This record gives sequence, structure tokens and C-alpha cells, in this order.
Amino acid sequence: MKTPDPPLAAFLADCQQRLDRTLEHWLPPAGTHPDSLHTAMRYTVLDGGKRIRPTLVYASGQAVDAQTEHLDGPACAIELIHAYSLIHDDLPAMDDDDLRRGKPSCHRAFGEATAILAGDALQSLAFYLLAHDHTATADTATRIRMIETLSLAAGSRGMAGGQAIDLGAAGQQLNIAELEDMHIHKTGALIRASVMLGAINARGTEDGPLEKLDHYAKCIGLAFQIRDDILDVEGETRMLGKHTGMDEQLDKSTYPALLGLDAARQRARELLQDALDSLAGFPESADPLRWIATYIVERNR
Ligand code: IPE
Ligand code: IPE
Ligand code: MG
Ligand code: MG
Ligand code: MG
Repeated sequence: MKTPDPPLAAFLADCQQRLDRTLEHWLPPAGTHPDSLHTAMRYTVLDGGKRIRPTLVYASGQAVDAQTEHLDGPACAIELIHAYSLIHDDLPAMDDDDLRRGKPSCHRAFGEATAILAGDALQSLAFYLLAHDHTATADTATRIRMIETLSLAAGSRGMAGGQAIDLGAAGQQLNIAELEDMHIHKTGALIRASVMLGAINARGTEDGPLEKLDHYAKCIGLAFQIRDDILDVEGETRMLGKHTGMDEQLDKSTYPALLGLDAARQRARELLQDALDSLAGFPESADPLRWIATYIVERNR
């Protein structure tokens, strides 16, 4: 599949429109003091990226009948955290990448110090938003649960921890369990949080469906990074908006490096099937979750 199928494309477009509106509402306006920091934040977040994580918030909320307007804030918050993680991931101290989303990475455009601060500020903004979003649920317990979910997923037991494992593993030969543990943390954690933020927003979602959604999220989170690793080998810079071949250059531990491309593709397909199986009892309203899972393992950007 080269581009998303029409039903997914329409769903994505709808989510993106809502997200763009919400981002514009929460991001500091251009030209406001301190200008260079706010410009760097806006440069990174606006006009780019597949927006998979916010789309998952909407898709998961829809699967359990959450109110769409309650999902705008959490969808925006997760994209802010993701954008921060990309800025820091590209820094010279980490992956040293100069191209992101088809344009110079944040530190190449604004300098390293501003890029670090833009990442910091985007992370803070995500939590400010969750605490202050008046269109979200009026239920304080749900609000606190969302903050708890996102902070755990972003921190040392989630994405930041996974990034630490990734950096420590460069040049090392990980076994498959260690590799999956790294991927589950660095990428899986935020994807899992996206699905959970949508699901915990619906009143009275029972534990059974929540566990199934969580299993779905774990599978697609791992599959997402496997596909990312495959695309680093066989993708096109023009499509991806980032340089390919970087993992090999940095001697990163990846699926294709450890198992080869065919086995990596096979593992992604198995995870897709597992993810779809866990949605078996869900109604048609869960279809966007099904489309997104398929897109994740077949995408070429
Ligand atoms: C890239 O994420 C970083 C990983 C976790 C692999 P995406 O592929 O979702 O990046 P954008 O948001 O579309 O640019
Ligand atoms: C990045 O993984 C994961 C996070 C940003 C948390 P990669 O380093 O593989 O992502 P890309 O390939 O640079 O987008
Ligand atoms: Mg990295
Ligand atoms: Mg990287
Ligand atoms: Mg990568």
C-alpha cells in the first residue's frame, strides 16, 4: 500500500484538521517573546508528520464511544511529546540527523541550544494542556489518569528510557528479546499511551475492552518501530522526509540488522495479525484502529 486506503485517508484528514486547530490554539503564537524558541517549537510541530499518534487517540476513543471533543486535548498532547522526542532524537549527541519531515532538523535550523529548549518546552506544554484543557472531560480522576499515563510513557520507564537503551546498544549485538524491549520502550510506549488516552476518555469503559485495546497497542507499537527500521534500509528519503541508511551508519541495533529484512517483515505481519485478533469483539466503530494497524506495517513513509 503506497498511500492510505480511502477510508483511512478520510479519517486521517479529519483527525489532522482537528489536530491542526488544537495545536494552533495551544502553541505560543509566532512573534511572541522569546521569539526564537517559539518559532522553533512551531517549526517542528506544524505542517509535518503522519500524525499517527493523535489519529490513534481519536480512533481508540471512537471504538469505545468517547466524545470526540474530549479527545482533541489528549491527541494534541501526545503529538507535542512526540515532536519533542524527535527534536532530541536528531541532536548531535543522539542520532545526529540533519533532515526531519523533509526539512532541516530543529537544531540545524535554530542551533543546538534552542532545539534542546524547544524539546523541553513542548514537553511542558503537553502536560500544561492536559491540566488546563477545558474542552476535555470534566472528571478530575480521568484528567489525572491521562496525565499519569502520558508522563509514565514519556519518562525513564517509557520513551526516554528506550532512547537510553538505544544509545547504549549502538555497536552492541542485542538478542531478540533485548531488541524488542528497546523498541517497546522507545516507540511502543507513546503509541500505547495514544490508544489508552483515547480509551480512558469514555465513561465506563470496562477492564476487558481496555486490556484488549492495550494488547492491540503493544503489538502495533512494536510493529511501528520494526517498519521504521525496515524503511531506514529500503525506504526513500524523498518519501520519508528523513535520511535513510542512518541506522547502519550509527551501528544501531535494529530488526533488519539482527534478523534480516524478510524476518523483520514477517515479524511485523505477525504483530499486525495479533493486533487485529485482539479487536475481534469490537464493533465497526473500531475500524479506524484496524486500518491504522494495517497502514503501520505497510506504509512507505
Ligand atoms: C518517527 O516517528 C520516530 C519513531 C518513533 C520511529 P513517525 O514515523 O511517527 O514520525 P512522523 O511524526 O510521521 O514524522
Ligand atoms: C526514534 O527512533 C524514537 C524516538 C524518537 C523516541 P529512531 O531514531 O529510529 O527514529 P527516526 O528513524 O530517527 O525517526
Ligand atoms: Mg534514535
Ligand atoms: Mg533517529
Ligand atoms: Mg529510525
